[in-house]
Amino acid sequence: MVSDGSRPVAVLVGPPGSGKTTVGRALAERLGLDLHDTDLAIEAATGRSIPDIFIEDGEPVFRDLERAEVARALSATTGVLALGGGAVMDPTTRSALGGHTVVFLDVGIADASKRIGFDQSRPLLAVNPRASWVALMKRRRPVYEGVATHVVDTAGRTPEDVAEQIAGLIGEPR
Ligand code: S3P
Repeated sequence: MVSDGSRPVAVLVGPPGSGKTTVGRALAERLGLDLHDTDLAIEAATGRSIPDIFIEDGEPVFRDLERAEVARALSATTGVLALGGGAVMDPTTRSALGGHTVVFLDVGIADASKRIGFDQSRPLLAVNPRASWVALMKRRRPVYEGVATHVVDTAGRTPEDVAEQIAGLIGEPR
């Protein structure tokens, strides 16, 4: 069995546009497990969209909700867990990731912009999206690499292809 039933089989981290949700879905499907996405969980629990939380309450309120949701999800999820792109910037979350199988989905600006199209759904990228993404990735790259047990390059690849590699890395039975 790939899941020991007590922790996520893989925690996916990476910047916006790295494909955490689509790869997570493909990986979960392949393994016959569920995908839990912390952004969706926060939206479901609050009944509000993430842009609305950012605009109405501010980023610190969102980060508090995110820290709590990641902690809850790390102990409650036994399938695949996808974190919001900024979750790993929180020191408490980084400590909580210790001992977990964490996969950093690496991506460059060319693929990220193709995947996300830079619309209004990502408040941190609302102004000057490309430059903001590049600056954000420069700041975050060492953090993603620091928490990762595996780094997977997603450039030019389909979600299924990336999912297949991750399944191999985490020990899918063959
Ligand atoms: C964020 C990424 C978003 C979402 C929020 C903040 C970030 O998730 O959590 O808008 O700080 O990078 P995605 O990585 O799924 O876009």
